[in-house]
Amino acid sequence: MSTVDAHNPDLDQIPVLVHERLTRFLDARAAEVAAIGTPVTEAVEYLRNFVLNGGKRIRPLYVWAGFVAAQGPDESAENIESVLDAAASLEFIQACALIHDDIIDSSDTRRGAPTVHRAVEQRHGETGLEGDAAHFGQSVAILAGDMALVWAEDMLQDSGLSAEALARTRDAWRGMRTEVIGGQLLDIFLEAQANESVDLADSVNRFKTAAYTIERPLHLGASIAGADDELITALRNYGRDIGIAFQLRDDLLGVFGDPAITGKPAGDDIREGKRTVLLSLALQQADISDPDASAVIRAGIGKVSDPVEISRIAGLIRETGAEDQVEQRITALTESGLAHLDLDSIPEGVRKQLRHLAIRATERRM
Ligand code: IPE
Ligand code: IPE
Ligand code: MG
Ligand code: MG
Repeated sequence: MSTVDAHNPDLDQIPVLVHERLTRFLDARAAEVAAIGTPVTEAVEYLRNFVLNGGKRIRPLYVWAGFVAAQGPDESAENIESVLDAAASLEFIQACALIHDDIIDSSDTRRGAPTVHRAVEQRHGETGLEGDAAHFGQSVAILAGDMALVWAEDMLQDSGLSAEALARTRDAWRGMRTEVIGGQLLDIFLEAQANESVDLADSVNRFKTAAYTIERPLHLGASIAGADDELITALRNYGRDIGIAFQLRDDLLGVFGDPAITGKPAGDDIREGKRTVLLSLALQQADISDPDASAVIRAGIGKVSDPVEISRIAGLIRETGAEDQVEQRITALTESGLAHLDLDSIPEGVRKQLRHLAIRATERRM
């Protein structure tokens, strides 16, 4: 820790500082939680483990990058610990989004460990509780996710940011939460409709991922620093393009990724029937070049759970060439995202950081 400059940290020090701020926040909640009862302490323990063990901390990194782009620690009247708390609060939004997403997607594994609802389900069996274990697991996970959403709000509001800075965060904070929930709703509707539209899949990526992962975190950080509209627009445009590319990468990993690296099972998106841009492009291509393959993909998506069948469908998707098309989209979005940063008011050092973050977000293997 002695290498971390807590008053003017580098970007790569942010994850450690975020971990510290989250630990502090959670420790401070322990007595209040215990006073309600042991079950609350137990449920919160799952949330604590989820929040503290893992995660790339992309959203806090982007809050920090937005803050530095607009002003930075040396010129800011805001307390740096307050800015870090505001950044760290997004990890509670993320915890809520992922814990609930894993129920929605019936996912068993997250960040290389059992998902919260599955872990609670297992514990239900081991401790001899009454009733349906799976239902109990989901119920606890829904409430743990709700708690995370509430604590995100508390962590931001109690961060110690000035009243003016807090007021400036309002638009980004409000937009981010509505957009991510809206995006998740679009996502499950497309899945239920077996929708094959590339445009609608794009729109899902924009709202369920780009907005709350990059666009709004940058907006929030820049707002704390009092950025002008021109800078906020540039950062948001960058965030939208890089955020969509980030989800396209996640979609490729969801079909072709190595579970040891992603922390999620191979082919989970095929089992779940996620209507990704990758899938829509693959079906378009296969309809032209190999109608038998497109029939097998259509019949299997969202219906297969056997690893051999999942890997057969992944192979057919790969043969359509859709993977290359998605790679081209990622490249084009990364270029257009970076082009939004060609603004005199953005210091070269900040542009470099945002370029570095864009590459990490879009080329990641994890
Ligand atoms: C996962 O987000 C959900 C998506 C939007 C793809 P991350 O890939 O940022 O997940 P963690 O926080 O690092 O686990
Ligand atoms: C996750 O979307 C987006 C949110 C949690 C808001 P996905 O369902 O596509 O992400 P993974 O693949 O489970 O991480
Ligand atoms: Mg999911
Ligand atoms: Mg999902």
